[in-house]
Amino acid sequence: MLAPPYTAVELWLLDHLAPRLLDSARALYELMPRQRGGQLPLVDVPYRPMSEEHWAEAARIADYVAHAPAGAQRVLDIGPGDGWPALPVAAARPDLLVLGVDPSPLRVQVCTANATRMGLGNARFVVGDGAALPFEASTFDLVTAASSLEEASAPEAVLRETLRVLRPGGVLRASSQDWRLGVPGFETVLLWESIADGQAGEGRAGALCYSYVSRVQDPPRERRYTLILDGSEAARALHQEALLQVAVGRRAYGETLLDDSLGIAMLERLAPYTRASTVVELQRWSTPALIEALRRAGFAEARATVHPGELGRRFARELLARGAMEPFVPLFEDATRALGTLAGSQVGDAMVTGVKR
Ligand SMILES: C[S@@+](CC[C@H](N)C(=O)[O-])C[C@H]1O[C@@H](n2cnc3c(N)ncnc32)[C@H](O)[C@@H]1O
Repeated sequence: MLAPPYTAVELWLLDHLAPRLLDSARALYELMPRQRGGQLPLVDVPYRPMSEEHWAEAARIADYVAHAPAGAQRVLDIGPGDGWPALPVAAARPDLLVLGVDPSPLRVQVCTANATRMGLGNARFVVGDGAALPFEASTFDLVTAASSLEEASAPEAVLRETLRVLRPGGVLRASSQDWRLGVPGFETVLLWESIADGQAGEGRAGALCYSYVSRVQDPPRERRYTLILDGSEAARALHQEALLQVAVGRRAYGETLLDDSLGIAMLERLAPYTRASTVVELQRWSTPALIEALRRAGFAEARATVHPGELGRRFARELLARGAMEPFVPLFEDATRALGTLAGSQVGDAMVTGVKR
């Protein structure tokens, strides 16, 4: 089902646990109580101007908003997770109708609950695949996507569908993880707790999970294997032990780099307590490859810009380092809007814009 080559850990997993091949929505996002473990980006926490992360977040939202063409009415957010950027964009522009589409029913539920809590009547969410959008052609003025294009099983089909549902003159503004690893590949391990136990539809709370991730530069792809453990005391103790090791390990991409004790040695100990195992394979893009894919999909214009979040973060970091943030606190909204608007016009290699003729 997966093409070679395999790492030693993958070979062990394929031989011993026969993981089920799933898409990312079913393998990961259906099981996560919250995206990114409650880290930023936040959908419903008030901005704190003394935090550089919040400058980054606000600038990113301002950037999306600035890409809505004049007279825009409808925005589509592909793969909103917990509602990002759909919800902050809807909050910033009450005159726009923002729709979010995500194949994970759980994510759609979370987004809808967040919209209700935030009192946003102009944000709605539907279950659907970006590669087969449940909308008529030329329906949207702006399509946003944050770290979601590359999570689809057929990302090029998502780009073609995006083009179809954009009206002429409509804009796609997207961020994706830039897959220039700088090394041929590396492996990481993640210990986490899922909202369900992996038994489709039952939705019982709280199963402990172990994920092994193999990232490869060429061809650019990621494979993520997840073991869903049973609820025994022994499994809980092992999970806790691995969690402590992960907490002190060296990190990359927000995860802990594999070391011997967390790899096959840990898998041999976890295997007796494994109730289900899954694998998801994702095609990855560098920014230049994404620009090429936009052109192939038929976008008339495709360009890469600097990252508004990076711009916002650097600006705030500089002010904080100089002890000069205080006077900017009342200007937070205007300043982040300016940074966000600026980012889209600055040539760079982080976020991408595609325009339909
Ligand atoms: C890394 S999360 C990003 C969530 C959110 N945009 C954010 O930045 O916090 C990726 C999201 O893409 C969704 N996704 C996966 N496959 C998809 C597809 N084929 N079409 C649309 N969304 C998809 C996942 O369910 C998940 O919610």
